[in-house]
Amino acid sequence: MLTGKGITHPIVVKLGGSIVTRKDEPYTPNKEAIDKLADILSSYYRSNGQLILVHGGGSYGHYAVEEARKRKGVLDTVDVAQVQKRMLELSVIIASSLIEHGLPVSIHPAHTLCKSENDCCFDVIIEDLSNGLVPMTYGDIIVTDKGYKIISGDDLTLWLASTTGSRRVIFVMDQPGVLDKTGKVMERVTPQTLGEVGIAKKESVDVTGGIAKKLESALEFVVDHDVEVRVVGIEGLKEILSGGKAGTVITK
Ligand code: IPE
Repeated sequence: MLTGKGITHPIVVKLGGSIVTRKDEPYTPNKEAIDKLADILSSYYRSNGQLILVHGGGSYGHYAVEEARKRKGVLDTVDVAQVQKRMLELSVIIASSLIEHGLPVSIHPAHTLCKSENDCCFDVIIEDLSNGLVPMTYGDIIVTDKGYKIISGDDLTLWLASTTGSRRVIFVMDQPGVLDKTGKVMERVTPQTLGEVGIAKKESVDVTGGIAKKLESALEFVVDHDVEVRVVGIEGLKEILSGGKAGTVITK
């Protein structure tokens, strides 16, 4: 664990692409949701809570990758640069709202932190956090000697939690938690109840594996980390950050 001066178990919040963008409309942010999230997160920050933010790609990153794949099969360096630019655009939109609400956000594109899809260095994020900023990174794309690789925002979220000694990870999505096959929010997902999760047949374009992959990674993570991992909607985030309970806990 790599904690810096004055770092006291920050909460790592992943703002899913399903909430910060309109998933079925290419390159369209969900401004209303972003502003609501900014309001909730800034209240938490003002009450002295430390935050690390990660956001997803939604109809920016996923769509940009899919579009290039359909056109050419394999992405070249210009396509990669284009996807990186699209993600940065989305990040600036989110950061603008957060900053207007008083959150001192500093953007760290994951392509500047990661050498491969599973080798990232978070030193600058830790430095920012200990200096009072709210570091924010996001799912991204890089070129490696084995071709282009997509870095999942969910993976970044879990790695950041273990690197900074976080005790709480919150995934915010466009639904109030993980839904079962009847559409009801599940109180908890464990390896035993994973089969009860309702996976939508037609998910929007998702190049990093959707909810199934998220749950699989989170379940693997909680086995050897003392971290509470939750999936919530916007209202649930407000509830959780003010000390209440909401959404679905992912636990062993
Ligand atoms: C995807 O990030 C990033 C790219 C496709 C470039 P995530 O996988 O974290 O995005 P969401 O939250 O599922 O949209």
